Amino acid sequence: MHNLKLSDCKILYLIRKQCFNDIWTENDFILMLSNKLYFGFRIDEKGFILCRKILDEIEIITFGVIPIYRRQGLGRRLLQSVINYVKTTSENNKIFLEVAEDNTPARSLYKSFGFQQISIRKDYYNSITKIKNAVVMQLLTY
Ligand SMILES: CC(C)(COP(=O)(O)OP(=O)(O)OC[C@H]1O[C@@H](n2cnc3c(N)ncnc32)[C@H](O)[C@@H]1OP(=O)(O)O)[C@@H](O)C(=O)NCCC(=O)NCCS
Repeated sequence: MHNLKLSDCKILYLIRKQCFNDIWTENDFILMLSNKLYFGFRIDEKGFILCRKILDEIEIITFGVIPIYRRQGLGRRLLQSVINYVKTTSENNKIFLEVAEDNTPARSLYKSFGFQQISIRKDYYNSITKIKNAVVMQLLTY
């Protein structure tokens, strides 16, 4: 497990490309990781989790494990690293995220960690081919 660094942006871009069908660029990662409010963790070139600090909350911005390494516990380890981070810092005590309503693997993972659904954002994911609702989930760590 490594803390994310600016020099990881190419790897993060390549992992994300295998996890999501979208147009994030390497530069998107550079912009985020140049800002000290962003942080996260990576396991080799297999998966990563990227978060942002907002006041007393941590938002999970993006999170993925490449398909050939899924169901081996890497997603669980990455999410646990964020929870450990939040528990060891006094200024943050909430983690929240948005997940597509039909994303069963991710929703099961979050639920198994005790994340609770707090709202629905209608039509939040809006691509040419599909419009989906987002489920907003939160974990309180105090
Ligand atoms: C969500 C994701 C990160 C999980 O990574 P992973 O390394 O496969 O997760 P783990 O092996 O640690 O699995 C942990 C738990 O998640 C749930 N889970 C994972 N894949 C699942 C699946 N296909 N179906 C149902 N539950 C699943 C299970 O509860 C699993 O625990 P178990 O293996 O003991 O049953 C991965 O599927 C992924 O990258 N998906 C595409 C990107 C994505 O959706 N990211 C999240 C956006 S909010």
